[in-house]
Amino acid sequence: MSATPINQLANHIGQEVTLQGWLYNKTGKGKLAFLQVRDGTGTCQCVVFKGNVGDEQFADADKLPQESSLIVHGMVKADPRAPGVPGGYELDVKSLEVVQRAAEYPITPKEHGDAFLLDNRHLWIRSQKQWATLRVRATVMRAIRSWLDNHGYVEMSTPILTPSAAEGTSNLFEVDYFDERAYLCQTGQLYNEADIAAFGKVYCFGPTFRAERSKTRRHLTEFWMVEPEIAFCKLDELLEIEEQFVSYIVHTVITDNANELKVLGRDVAVLQKMIPPFPRISYDDAVTRLHTIQADLKAGNPVLRWDGQPLQGFEDRTLLDITWGMDFGSPHETALTQMFEKPVFVVGFPTAIKAFYMEPYPERPEVCMSADLLAPEGYGEIIGGSQRIYDPDVLIARIHEHQLPIENYQWYIDCRRYGSTPHSGFGLGVERTTAWICGIDHVREAIPFPRLMNRMTP
Ligand code: 4AD
Ligand code: MG
Repeated sequence: MSATPINQLANHIGQEVTLQGWLYNKTGKGKLAFLQVRDGTGTCQCVVFKGNVGDEQFADADKLPQESSLIVHGMVKADPRAPGVPGGYELDVKSLEVVQRAAEYPITPKEHGDAFLLDNRHLWIRSQKQWATLRVRATVMRAIRSWLDNHGYVEMSTPILTPSAAEGTSNLFEVDYFDERAYLCQTGQLYNEADIAAFGKVYCFGPTFRAERSKTRRHLTEFWMVEPEIAFCKLDELLEIEEQFVSYIVHTVITDNANELKVLGRDVAVLQKMIPPFPRISYDDAVTRLHTIQADLKAGNPVLRWDGQPLQGFEDRTLLDITWGMDFGSPHETALTQMFEKPVFVVGFPTAIKAFYMEPYPERPEVCMSADLLAPEGYGEIIGGSQRIYDPDVLIARIHEHQLPIENYQWYIDCRRYGSTPHSGFGLGVERTTAWICGIDHVREAIPFPRLMNRMTP
């Protein structure tokens, strides 16, 4: 008989089923052993009564080490007090087979340090919060695909080995490519800009590499990014697409991952509010707001978040230092996003700090048609997007300004010679989005095996 997934037990009340999984935790009392068994879909309390299984099996159950693999057979009972995920069901065990008795498991319910847990990431992913986070991540990825597929976007696979930079030259991973040099992709965008002239609306979705020399809670060196690109689309329209898209992702998680969000202790009411429209502010305005916040903090005036609570964490007020023209750092994004209940678009960054392909505003070329979407609660940028330059001459001038080797961009410029259109696109980072939705502190827990500046094992 095939095994029943724990998250399907509600459909089997009063029936005998088989569960196969791993022992997560165990308590006991006299002739009763309570085994918390997890199977990948959830966790269920399996009640072993000595009288039902016989002495030998009971002794087995009673002494079983954490993480032993086992197959249990029994009757599903509904009991609102039963612990587990989703909880509310337990298994009255009739028989039990130990598949492997586990060796002493290094991760125990006590507190462990970050380095220890990361060294043991291959085991840590079994722990309940990690499990919940990675299941939410899978939903985020599924929602991304389903929204785009249902809105007429064609998925294009863009190269991972690339000859040139697109998002700055300082964070490229170099690879030997026979007698040449190649780089791991920082983005698939430039290829998508070619793809739109063939397909109209496209997206690429895959791993992305940045040799980021920053040890922040937001940076991985390998992360997953989805990048939609749309012909004939201007920036205003792009922002409407982005807010629909993000809202759909969040609400899919709310619907499909109620158990996981409960495990994570995430307040679903906060996520429920993520419905369009999202506020939009200009970069100019953002800088002014940051100056005002800093001045108020300095003067001892109250600085309130959107919910009326005082803004905290800026005792060192120099964290908020900024002059027009600078890019935001984490502290700036953190302060700004606490002023809004929903994600906020910051529009019109200085051209000089953004990528070469962004369209400058004709009436004010020092600013470009760019927009970052910053997630609330201090999570910071989850989307970077822009309208792209479509005039080949303007593009060539920008490539020279950025001192990029023009010969590598001939094909990209060429696309502008045959039916160029205003067009726009954006990139959403899967791990940052997942970390925000889950309410976790660090993006490294939002990917199964994180790659960080100082870590690429296991
Ligand atoms: O803002 P970015 O660099 O934009 C691009 O790469 C554009 N080519 C996208 C486009 O318009 N097609 O990156 C987009 C998003 C960020 O907002 C963030 O969510 C994520 O990718 N991201 C990272 N996530 C984790 N670790 C890093 N080091 C990241 N760098 C960017
Ligand atoms: Mg960005």
